[in-house]
Amino acid sequence: MSRLASRMGRLGTETAMAISVEASAHAAAGNRVFPFHLGDLNLPTPAPVREAARAALEAGHTGYCPAAGIPPLREALAADVGGARGLDYGANNVSIQPGGKPTIGKYIAAMMEHGETVLYPNPGYPIYESQIEFFGGVAHPYGYVDTKEGLRLDFDAVEAGIAAGARHLFYNNYNNPTGASSPSAEMERLAQLTVEHDLLLVSDEAYFDMLFDGDPRSIASLPGMRERTLILYTFSKKFAMTGWRLGGAIGPRWLTDEISRLNVNAESCTAHFVQHAGVAALGLPAGETDTIRDRLRARRDRLATLLNEIDGVVAHLPEAGFYFFPRVTELMARTGFDDAEAFRQAVLEATGVSFCCRYHFGRPLEGEREHYLRFAFSSISLADLEEGMTRLTEWANSR
Ligand SMILES: Cc1ncc(COP(=O)(O)O)c(C=O)c1O
Repeated sequence: MSRLASRMGRLGTETAMAISVEASAHAAAGNRVFPFHLGDLNLPTPAPVREAARAALEAGHTGYCPAAGIPPLREALAADVGGARGLDYGANNVSIQPGGKPTIGKYIAAMMEHGETVLYPNPGYPIYESQIEFFGGVAHPYGYVDTKEGLRLDFDAVEAGIAAGARHLFYNNYNNPTGASSPSAEMERLAQLTVEHDLLLVSDEAYFDMLFDGDPRSIASLPGMRERTLILYTFSKKFAMTGWRLGGAIGPRWLTDEISRLNVNAESCTAHFVQHAGVAALGLPAGETDTIRDRLRARRDRLATLLNEIDGVVAHLPEAGFYFFPRVTELMARTGFDDAEAFRQAVLEATGVSFCCRYHFGRPLEGEREHYLRFAFSSISLADLEEGMTRLTEWANSR
């Protein structure tokens, strides 16, 4: 007898996880798999961070700790996030979380009334849509316009959401899955709309520190935004710590205090010794994390060339993060496919190249015609990346 609460019918998932299961099964059957589907990292957490966790365990940091996080980590994160964004955050502006992801659901639980409209990127990280609907909100998508310079926010859709009464906005710069980054003017226009219409904004900055060149920018730094922005921070990407589960919600105190009250009701506190490792991570010399970024940059640059060499593929170079979001409408037509899932399966079967499709990142929008794939380069070696792309190119040319 099923006695599931009706809200469970509105809970989504990361459908991309199913691709991992399928790729593993393909590998277990004796095939080579080229994992372009994984948003994980195949690089180790820096040694001083691992050492700090061991030391914290030995020092007995194994009991409960404050729900909002240990003071040294809250202070260090406030200094790091505030310093990089030109904002004056203190420890009270930080609520430590077990990863970046919990900030999404906790923000919604704390701030969104049942029936309220929430703007969110689609294609986008699938948990926004899932959590908005789970908590009884109306998920109003905004997409992107594909230009020569890259994908740009569709402001018509943003304005339509505002006209429909949106009170909240999720913004993910730098973006997963599209690899898009906002030019200054775009970010400024979004901030202006947010202030003008009195919205609250969650700035998912999971890839803020993964910009390859120049200084990253946060929408929280723009005029009027600090008081209405909650920043999602994670240790997962910059420090190759995806499995440690460490992150934070950073914003005005009236909001972070409430997020911490949800911590008490959910996990009590984020793993105590892991937080000490987090302090060590924030104290690392820049060189340690530059190494991670340099290795990713080499993969990004090679993949840019190899993807764009395939007839019928258009791939913009991501300025940050781990993802290409190539447009493959012509490639699919040329190879005899009009269904992305059938295409994905055929490529996996024939070449072992495994990737996600646009539909893993939100429901298709009205009138959407182009096909896109997501190629992650964070969990594949340069050698495998090259071999996988060679196989894909040969397959595409043989059809
Ligand atoms: C855009 C975005 N936000 C949030 C997260 C969640 O990060 P974490 O693994 O730290 O929970 C991810 C992870 O892939 C992401 O891509």
